[in-house]
Amino acid sequence: KFSNALKSVARNEGIKQYIQNSEELYPLFMRAAKRFVSGEKRPDAMKKAKELIEKGYLVSLEFIGENTKTADECQLAKEEFLSLIHELGAHRMKSTISFDLSHIGMAIDRKLGLENLKEMAQAAEQYELNLMISMEESEKTDRILEIYKEAASIYKNIGITLQVHLKRSLDDLTELLNYPGKIRLVKGAYQEPEELVIGRSEELTERYLKFIEKSVKANHPISIATHDEGILQQVLERGYIHDSNVELEMLDGVRPDLIKKVKDQGYHARVYVTYGTEWYLYLAHRIAEYPPNIYTAVSDIIGS
Ligand code: FDA
Repeated sequence: KFSNALKSVARNEGIKQYIQNSEELYPLFMRAAKRFVSGEKRPDAMKKAKELIEKGYLVSLEFIGENTKTADECQLAKEEFLSLIHELGAHRMKSTISFDLSHIGMAIDRKLGLENLKEMAQAAEQYELNLMISMEESEKTDRILEIYKEAASIYKNIGITLQVHLKRSLDDLTELLNYPGKIRLVKGAYQEPEELVIGRSEELTERYLKFIEKSVKANHPISIATHDEGILQQVLERGYIHDSNVELEMLDGVRPDLIKKVKDQGYHARVYVTYGTEWYLYLAHRIAEYPPNIYTAVSDIIGS
């Protein structure tokens, strides 16, 4: 229950506004966010991505944002993603571009989200770059999957994230295996109505492994996006990782030791790098999914 309360506080819009508008609190919370976010601007993310690529990692890049409320803001978000795509292309950096559909228009209008997605996919295609759609709250799952399926039947360079904790996801996986895009498997970061999900448990771990097995058997490209050492161990023991279609992906700053171990063994290891002024949102997600991060955040703030 404490964890649920913390999740609500972390994602509270009023608290977010208060912190972002406060001259005193803003830089302090920014210090806590720095553990997970490369910086506020694109060059911060490019620098981080370059360093990681030089060390032998694959990279995903996200310009943070969600639930964009006006058409002008959606336009700006899309333009930032297009600039990111062109810059990656110009530097021949093979990074995946990751984003929420509600950041680029879906929260206003389904068609706007779809059109912006298609424009980004087309721009990315010329550089052989891939896009990856994140998965948001369960009330948006149907809309996100519909938009993905429509765009993925035209563009082969779009992937989709699936939350293993949602009970519906096994059926969704069966259907998504019919589309070419990479499937990124995550446990799920959002607080959902209890009846819709399987909470963090042994059952969820087994279910995660079942999703991996089903995808591998289908010979489908997947990203195993988790920091769970137990799952990682099974993935290594069962040999899933030897499959060239399979990669491990972790959020930058969460378990650098673990992703390095995967990379050093010669497997596909991807690091998820973020940037943008909406970093509070991202920090809130990291606290919500792993409440002990509140202590780390407080110690980052106090230690400053
Ligand atoms: P779990 O939460 O059980 O954690 C296992 C262990 O990992 C913990 O005991 C701890 O040691 C460590 N750990 C996990 N999270 C941590 C954190 N934040 N800080 C410090 N340590 C932590 N979710 C979603 O709903 N939609 C999405 O689109 C995405 N996208 C996404 C992309 C990528 C690349 C990753 C890695 C994750 C996501 N997620 C996501 C988040 C995902 O749903 C999930 O909340 C986190 O990965 C944490 O769950 P784990 O699988 O790591 O296991």
